[in-house]
Amino acid sequence: MRISVIGCGYLGAVHATCMARLGHEVVGIDVDEQKIEGLRNGRPPFYEPELEQLLNDGAVTDNLTFTTDMALASGSDVHFVCVGTPQKQGENAADITHVDAAVAALLPFLAAGDLVVGKSTVPVGTAGRLCALIALQQPEAHVVWNPEFLREGHAVADTIHPDRFVYGVKDGSEDHPAVAILDEVYAAPLASGTPRLVTDHATAELVKSAANSFLATKISFINAMAEVCEAVGADVTQLADAIGMDDRIGRKFLNAGIGFGGGCLPKDIRAFMARAGELGADQALTFLREVDAINMRRRTRVVELARDLCNGSLLGKRVTVLGAAFKPESDDVRDSPALSIAAQLQLQGAVVTVTDPKALANAARRFPELHYEPDTSAAVERADALLLLTEWQEYRELDPYALVESVSSPRVLDGRNVLDAAKWRAAGWAYRGLGRP
Ligand code: UDX
Repeated sequence: MRISVIGCGYLGAVHATCMARLGHEVVGIDVDEQKIEGLRNGRPPFYEPELEQLLNDGAVTDNLTFTTDMALASGSDVHFVCVGTPQKQGENAADITHVDAAVAALLPFLAAGDLVVGKSTVPVGTAGRLCALIALQQPEAHVVWNPEFLREGHAVADTIHPDRFVYGVKDGSEDHPAVAILDEVYAAPLASGTPRLVTDHATAELVKSAANSFLATKISFINAMAEVCEAVGADVTQLADAIGMDDRIGRKFLNAGIGFGGGCLPKDIRAFMARAGELGADQALTFLREVDAINMRRRTRVVELARDLCNGSLLGKRVTVLGAAFKPESDDVRDSPALSIAAQLQLQGAVVTVTDPKALANAARRFPELHYEPDTSAAVERADALLLLTEWQEYRELDPYALVESVSSPRVLDGRNVLDAAKWRAAGWAYRGLGRP
């Protein structure tokens, strides 16, 4: 099929590449010249495992072009809207000006029978509004809301083999003409058994907000348990293992630590609360305020623990932060708890060095005042304390016996509870985890 993908950020660049991989003829469109130039040359604007390789795969490049010219959307049967919906400045609500601008720019090029497929995370009601707007210009085009659930770091696999597809169509009916067209787009994953649900527009939009709210709640739940564990000297990792063995609960997303960050969970739960408020349903989501508060409290807690670990004062202490990305296998530092903690430590007088395998350039743009060192060995040299804040595999595998020689004082704070506490202690380290004795 002929497909246009509007917006070539984390979501769109992956989606365009994967659609080309599925054999469709794809044009990726973005207003950012630099991003498009990079993509044309096989360079994604961010780090995502497998993406660069796929982008340079002959079978993909034959099917894929990138442009800043919206006119090239003309002739596509399906137009995916993949632009960002960041948090509005000074407000909880989502800023959907990019979605509105993308659709407005696309309107002149829509033909009868075309599908406009929204993948961006939007406040419920957006699809209905866009549907009415598009109908004024091209009454025979269809609007589908098809939320994206991909995780950064696994984006290619999540796009080609998702857990499910959700198609939100105007009447919520399986017989809606858009359903068969989208089935053709996703023919390969559907044939391999990926389930697909057809809903109305509002339900599809809500599925995404609800899924992210549930995940955020699960993380904040276990972090709340970590607070209680700390108060009594219990171990939250064992608690998570034990409750996670109950099938109804499940072990995934029960890793206590420094909390969630990134470009999705924090802003999506806030936007959901704001939208519920507009709809007069704010009471239904007041628990998300607590989810957010528990999450933000983790960052303060880590700073306190780091101070404790450094004998009560951070002033002049050389602290090495291992990890700047909001999670491993990503160079994304949007709302990264690791970076926010690094900045707070620096404000409190610590001499902070941040290292990360992929995210240092993005981190330096966001917090230019921090000191960055790409080489792990150089970063830990003469440190008074190490803080493992993003659980990259190479940090999980650090050898405490070898490392003890290069630091000034063997102190480690394991912000993700991924190190073997007994081994580190045996090697002479003062070890602190989160919610662990
Ligand atoms: C998330 C959703 O998972 C995805 O479905 C949606 O489409 C976009 O938002 P992503 O932001 O890529 O994806 O990251 P995710 O893997 O969900 O992790 C989010 C944050 O939670 C990270 O900061 C991670 O470190 C943290 N986390 C995750 C925990 O602190 N504990 C856990 O047990 C799991």
